[in-house]
Amino acid sequence: HKRAKIALIGAGQIGGNLALMAVQKGLGDVVLFDVVEGVPQGKALDLYQSTPVDGYSNTLIGTNSYDDVKDADLVIITAGIPRKPGMSRDDLLNTNAKIMTDVATNLKRVAPNAFVIVISNPLDAMVYLFQKVSGFAKNKVMGMAGVLDAARFRTFISMETGVSVADISAFVLGGHGDTMVPLPRYSYVGGVPLPDYPGLTPQKIEEMVVRTRNGGGEIVALLKTGSAFFAPAASAIAMAESVLRDQRRVFPVAVYCDGEYGYKDLHIGLPVILGKNGVEKIIEIKLTAEEKAALDKSAEAVEGLKADLKRLNFI
Ligand code: APR
Repeated sequence: HKRAKIALIGAGQIGGNLALMAVQKGLGDVVLFDVVEGVPQGKALDLYQSTPVDGYSNTLIGTNSYDDVKDADLVIITAGIPRKPGMSRDDLLNTNAKIMTDVATNLKRVAPNAFVIVISNPLDAMVYLFQKVSGFAKNKVMGMAGVLDAARFRTFISMETGVSVADISAFVLGGHGDTMVPLPRYSYVGGVPLPDYPGLTPQKIEEMVVRTRNGGGEIVALLKTGSAFFAPAASAIAMAESVLRDQRRVFPVAVYCDGEYGYKDLHIGLPVILGKNGVEKIIEIKLTAEEKAALDKSAEAVEGLKADLKRLNFI
């Protein structure tokens, strides 16, 4: 069985943790790429030297050359600048769109068959731009947002109920921004729908929904010099594992729509099955009129980002 080659484009806070988690899970050999000289090499060497201690068998290299990314099976992209306090995700668009265009152009050349998971923000715009520039198959290009947003929601539900996160599931659809759509009706504590769980008043649920929506901003405000990295890394690794090991798990993924939910030529967070072909299936659930209206609003926000990309001549 050939080991997977996993390339991480961006060796910053999330990139370093992706490398650590990929090795700890034995997902494959890791190539850590960054434009900054020394950082990917240093992080890769440091992590490599941790593997004898814990007995992991995967290798790591750090590089500034796309030659080392050649024929990667799966690529996770965090290249970009993170959100600073007071900066909206959308402020990042211009800078990160330039970076994403560069990354997509290079990956098209060296790893045209790779599965790609995009993490860079603004997420829905970056994953769309990556797909347009690279021309990669649509089932192979995935944006990580919903897994993280759902994990945040699950954490808050656990804090509130005292129930293990293992027995809590949550559903968050839509774009990765202020318009994301957490769905309490499809979120469960030990199999009980959230609105039916004892003690969870509509007001409590609403508070958790609002905190989930602001989950990224809450961390940015605390850290002051960057954005979240542990939970984003864990979320992307779960997606990568489902693809590489054909687990067929159901995740909310920023996925290309071609008519699903009524959306066309747009990446937005929807429930999908992730397996050996990447996006195996988009699950079309029946939404209430209110839920659909919220998702439509989110789709409009993503359309707005697309329009900005067009205006700025990125697509
Ligand atoms: N190619 C490759 N890497 C690049 C490029 C480029 N053209 N431009 C910048 N980078 C690298 C930076 O050198 C840096 O090491 O991307 C890395 C980003 O790392 P951090 O600044 O630590 O950011 P991180 O916290 O990892 O978040 C990365 O994910 O959640 C989003 O909003 C966040 O867009 C940000 C991204």
